[in-house]
Amino acid sequence: MLPALVFIALAAFTAALLGSPAAGRASVLHLILAVGAMPLIFGAMGHFIPVLTRTRGAPARLGAVPVLALAGGVLVVAALSLPGMPWGRHAGAFVAATAAAALLAWSWRRRIGMLGRPHPGLAWYQAALACLVFALLAILASAVWPEQWPALRRLHLHLNTLGFIGMTAFGTLTVLMPTVTGKPDPGAALRLRRDFPLAVAGTLLVAAGAAWFAPLAAVGAVLWAIPPVRLAANWLRLYRTEVFRLHGAAPLLAAALAGFVLSLLYGAAALSPVGLVPVWIYVAGFLPPLVTGAASQLLPVWLRPGVQNAWHARLRGALGRYGGVRAVLFCIGGAVAGTGREWGLLLGAATLLWFIVQAVAALVHATILQKEHTP
Ligand code: HEM
Repeated sequence: MLPALVFIALAAFTAALLGSPAAGRASVLHLILAVGAMPLIFGAMGHFIPVLTRTRGAPARLGAVPVLALAGGVLVVAALSLPGMPWGRHAGAFVAATAAAALLAWSWRRRIGMLGRPHPGLAWYQAALACLVFALLAILASAVWPEQWPALRRLHLHLNTLGFIGMTAFGTLTVLMPTVTGKPDPGAALRLRRDFPLAVAGTLLVAAGAAWFAPLAAVGAVLWAIPPVRLAANWLRLYRTEVFRLHGAAPLLAAALAGFVLSLLYGAAALSPVGLVPVWIYVAGFLPPLVTGAASQLLPVWLRPGVQNAWHARLRGALGRYGGVRAVLFCIGGAVAGTGREWGLLLGAATLLWFIVQAVAALVHATILQKEHTP
């Protein structure tokens, strides 16, 4: 299921970025965020939550949650693209909120059932899911308070981009970089615990501020910027060599962190009329390096769980080949797209296509190798 979700996400990102000049902005964004990212995040959480709570793997029935989320995402994209389907917005929000609430409830049961304290990354995932539930409730609430629609829309978009995806990404990046580089980050758990209130307060202030009182949003953006800047300083100290390499997932994870900080900066700057489009740097300069970097590391484990051997290492090497070049291209594409220039989005799409082709070739090669070595 997880490898399929990775490819659905990559295909949705590429199609959306390629079609962006022609299609409507909201439908393009939801193809990336609700069809591509949301189901993949749910699937990944199903993989990570048992690790964070030191409990057994997720049951097979949890696989229904990303599928439900995907259905919600498809509904909203259809509603935003096709005439005569306004009900699809609320139906999509209801379906996706049900999936998010089910995953949140399951994570709570895991937390209550475990021995000892959970890894602090769990709180980041749970807060992320809670933000998504509230973001979708904001869409549903617009049926009752249509006069509040502009504010509810802004609440929805910030709770989702900074809360749901932002908090998931930050928690994941913090624990993934040490795995990717094979070098521990001894302060990671402590920092996650200390930074958690900043990210929660930052998200809520930006969301409520953008909806009702702009100055609060600027304060929130400053608070939210502290954890990633601290993480970046830490990575430069611990992983400088790996981050500036030609190959591997580390440069992509670093690019994703940079893309997130830049989205916050562009978002704060966009409060004044300077023509920046923070959401385009978010979808071209933050999500693509995040997903391709995480996929380069995790696809081999998700394809063949259990003991890791030379097959996994070889596939990981093939997926991460020229990761450093892609990281630079995503950074350029994101920064340019964020200034409203279309070619930044197209550069992001071309770089994603490059990764998809490389990943398919690597998987075909790995499958052939596996067959040759199976007696
Ligand atoms: C199935 C679930 C979802 C539903 C039903 C939904 C619904 C909507 C609707 C109706 C709008 C207003 C569109 C317009 O202005 O015409 C909107 C805007 C937005 N939503 Fe969602 N959404 C969903 C999931 C998400 C997710 C997961 C994200 C992730 C970050 C997201 C991010 C945004 C953004 C950034 C906007 C602003 C779009 C723009 O500026 O044009 N949404 N959403």
